[in-house]
Amino acid sequence: MNAMKIAPSILSADFSRLRDEIQAVEAAGADWLHVDVMDGHFVPNITIGPVVVESIRKVTKIPLDVHLMITDPDKYAPEFIKAGADWVSIHPDTCANPNVSLRKIRERGAKASVAVNPDVPLEKVEGCFPEIDMILMMTVFPGFGGQAFIPDVLPKIEQVRRIVDQKKLPILVEADGGIKADNIERVVRAGAEVIVSGSGIFKTTDYESTIRQMRAAVGQ
Ligand code: DX5
Ligand code: ZN
Repeated sequence: MNAMKIAPSILSADFSRLRDEIQAVEAAGADWLHVDVMDGHFVPNITIGPVVVESIRKVTKIPLDVHLMITDPDKYAPEFIKAGADWVSIHPDTCANPNVSLRKIRERGAKASVAVNPDVPLEKVEGCFPEIDMILMMTVFPGFGGQAFIPDVLPKIEQVRRIVDQKKLPILVEADGGIKADNIERVVRAGAEVIVSGSGIFKTTDYESTIRQMRAAVGQ
């Protein structure tokens, strides 16, 4: 089992106290911060833009994992990278040519990742593998925090883990959506190593104890 990274999604944080929330999860042991960017077009919800990412960058040192759920990632990814995004995930159906979009993200100095929705077979994105540093396996449909985990995605996480290991690909496997202390073990056992959790962390009272429970659940 690879060392697990925990990436709290700020979507479930208290935005009126965003700096405190970020610093609290960082102090509680978060490895990365997951930033969900939604434009009201690709998904029916609007969240934050590059200006906010720029502000976040100033108050934390941990990597910013920016998940773009927007119709025009080619136009906006450069702005998010300039604002401080270390990792940028895109949904392939939002790009004319996902490989070109992913390559541009890397050329601008960020790590590139492709997101796979629960109903998308892995075969659809395998052509992106040479261009990515991470694959984001969605365990809910994108759009909102606090949704129920979709266990049907677990075999697909096992499938991607097998491919990555067999071919020794330098690709991290991330899982995102509905992951909490009580189901994280299944997700990690299936093969995910970067775990996004929004409500599973920010809706609990003691972030440090929640993150400790998450690590204990996977024996880390
Ligand atoms: C869903 C987002 C997720 C979400 C995770 O569209 O991509 O990152 O915020 O939140 P929870 O853990 O509450 O499902
Ligand atoms: Zn996300």
